[in-house]
Amino acid sequence: PFRIEDFKRELIENIKKTVGDKQVVCGVSGGVDSTVLAVLLNEAGVNVRAIFVDQGLMRKNEAEEVKNNFHRLGVEIEAIDASKLFLDALAGEPDPEKKRVIIGNLFIDVFWDTVGNAEMLAQGTLYPDVIESASNDKSKASKIKTHHNRVDRILELQKQGKVLEPLAELFKDEVRELGHSLGIPDDILNRHPFPGPGLAVRCPGEITLERLNVIRDCDAIFINALKEHGWYDKVWQAYAGLIPVKTVGVKGDERSYEWATNLRAVISEDAMTADWVELPPSLLREVSNKILNEVSGINRVLYDISTKPPASIEWE
Ligand code: XMP
Repeated sequence: PFRIEDFKRELIENIKKTVGDKQVVCGVSGGVDSTVLAVLLNEAGVNVRAIFVDQGLMRKNEAEEVKNNFHRLGVEIEAIDASKLFLDALAGEPDPEKKRVIIGNLFIDVFWDTVGNAEMLAQGTLYPDVIESASNDKSKASKIKTHHNRVDRILELQKQGKVLEPLAELFKDEVRELGHSLGIPDDILNRHPFPGPGLAVRCPGEITLERLNVIRDCDAIFINALKEHGWYDKVWQAYAGLIPVKTVGVKGDERSYEWATNLRAVISEDAMTADWVELPPSLLREVSNKILNEVSGINRVLYDISTKPPASIEWE
């Protein structure tokens, strides 16, 4: 059986040995993997610089939450607000792959501009990521979307032996176990996965601040309701996205002509396949009413009942 305490001790010893007195940088997103990584490095007592790039594509109040969470964990982070850069770079671009490339490249640029000259880089790569990038040429999944965690500069560092990936032997549930044994609270460890390109993949077509804010409001209402009714921990991932198509409705006494939001909640083992969740109609009704009453810009709420495949979890 997987003995977490022994494994942790070994990991920490290895990190100390490999890093020595060099400075190691890591990117943090607030997600489980990078959080466990940063806390682990901190625990190993090495000289660590944890950088959080806010690309302006986070959920409602998320940047603040991430900062608070690290504060709670006693890990110092450098937060870079790059939202304007990202929104400017994305302006007017409707193509999903081009959006991903813009976000991926800019993220790397902002990160490395902040870092300057890294002595070492630590990444929260997990075992499934290792498998996926090892079979990069063959794997269809990796071709369907452009993932941006292994671009040239990192490959270069890797060749020089300057990349540390302490979680590379672990599956997700083992990372959570490790996080638990590092004293990371459950509300952080049980966060749903959130994609690197953030809300961009939940906003088909052009990205604008207005669209992002509508998504943020709908999503916050949905996620809070899931938490309140005990569904958050039962689903693997959930969100509200935007369908930027205007349809006619009535709000108050007036004709409305507004966008639709799609609610999505799925269960999955490994994100390769997923099934939609049969949420109680009363819960969906509550969320829908709240969104229709409170979010201006939305006059229609849809629930996504598509399995993956053939759909994907995100919309782009
Ligand atoms: P799809 O939409 O491909 O998503 O069914 C599968 C899982 O992967 C997440 N996802 C990403 N995560 N960078 C990430 O770190 C990405 O570019 C990315 N694209 C999708 C998605 O949220 C889901 O959990």
